[in-house]
Amino acid sequence: MFICNCNGVREKEIQKVIHNGVKTWEQILAHFDYEPCCGRCEDDINCMIEDHSLVSNSVSLEKIAAP
Ligand code: FES
Repeated sequence: MFICNCNGVREKEIQKVIHNGVKTWEQILAHFDYEPCCGRCEDDINCMIEDHSLVSNSVSLEKIAAP
């Protein structure tokens, strides 16, 4: 599924970049040598970044709480 239709960037490609530590919409597009265009994908990509951050923090807390 395309998230950024202007640049033809797919959800799975974006997830890999987020997993590798890229944290902003602009940086993600720049990773693929693209620039922001219409901006319609910004909210979706920011949600993906936030979801990844929440999951990562949750996993970290589980490690801290483990005996
Ligand atoms: S859909 Fe991503 S910049 Fe337009």
